[in-house]
Amino acid sequence: MKKVFKWIGIVIGSLVGLILLSAVGLFAVGSSRLNKTYDFPPSGIAIPTDKASLERGRHLTNMMCTGCHGSDLGGVEKWFADDALGRVDAPNLTSGAGGEGAEFESDEDWARVIRHGVDPEGKPIFMPAVTAFAHLSNEDLGAIIAYIKTVPPVNRQTEERNFTALTKILIGAGMFKLPAETVSHDPNPVAPRAGVTVEYGEYLVNIMDCKSCHGENLAGGAFPDPSVTAPVPNITPGGSLAQWSEQDFFNAMKTGVTPRGNQMNPLHMPWKEIGLASDDELIAIWLFLESLPSLP
Ligand code: HEC
Ligand code: HEC
Repeated sequence: MKKVFKWIGIVIGSLVGLILLSAVGLFAVGSSRLNKTYDFPPSGIAIPTDKASLERGRHLTNMMCTGCHGSDLGGVEKWFADDALGRVDAPNLTSGAGGEGAEFESDEDWARVIRHGVDPEGKPIFMPAVTAFAHLSNEDLGAIIAYIKTVPPVNRQTEERNFTALTKILIGAGMFKLPAETVSHDPNPVAPRAGVTVEYGEYLVNIMDCKSCHGENLAGGAFPDPSVTAPVPNITPGGSLAQWSEQDFFNAMKTGVTPRGNQMNPLHMPWKEIGLASDDELIAIWLFLESLPSLP
């Protein structure tokens, strides 16, 4: 009898030991992926000063950055906060006290963050939207940087990212990918000429991050933040958009109300920022969605 207990003890003990060992191993892998330094050749992007480009930068920034960094770009505390996983604030982007604009030394620091997803030291940041921003043309990226440098300073201190050991283990296990590990790092993404075309609509859908939520093929799926249970709808003609008119799409992006009368939650579907798009931009997006294969 005693022998059996001894063996059970040994088996359980070694299992626990193995699990602990692999957790320690994955923690080490996760930590090293977070601490890895990436190096990219300078983008050489020209930062424009003319009025039209600054206006373009303002427009893109309002559609693409304020949803997370705040309408004054002064940062948002607890952009992500979960007892088990940790806390990530969306930092202050202005030149006020506590702002990145006060700390960044060159325009290349901005380009590295937005296009490659790494901080000025080359370490990967956890800003998922980089997967969309990596598609920004040099011109559009330059306009965004130029505009952000002109916004009124806001004095607001946000906290440093703080991931728990569990998150580092999950990163080590490959369950959370860092954008720096997945984006193309293309030094010169091309943008089709702005216009009411399917091609330009595709560019807008790419840079405006629709795919992070609606999926690579836009056929919908689970919400990227696991704490949100709302499913993300299929926006190819295989979903309910098959019954929508262009005007329905317009109304939904401007008011958040779908033709069936559903009020979309702006915290889940960023229609308020998307609705800032110009009429031409919205039609281009609509044309592109209409041109997609009808997926289930
Ligand atoms: C979906 C939410 C989201 C959007 C959209 C977004 N950001 Fe961020 N951003 C974050 C989060 C979260 C962090 C903090 C990442 C971290 O600490 O690892 C961050 C960090 C940053 C940083 C600081 C990087 C560093 O050095 O640590 C800059 C600069 C930045 N974002 C610029 C932008 C710009 C410019 C845009 C628009 C083109 C934008 N962000 C859009 C969520 C977002
Ligand atoms: C942060 C995640 C997220 C992003 C980014 C996002 N969506 Fe959505 N979208 C959702 C969710 C969630 C819903 C469902 C909202 C609800 O019913 O409250 C939705 C709903 C929609 C609908 C209504 C579909 C239906 O059948 O009712 C359309 C159209 C749509 N999104 C288009 C877009 C486009 C175009 C973009 C990019 C320009 C985009 N979305 C970006 C999450 C997102």
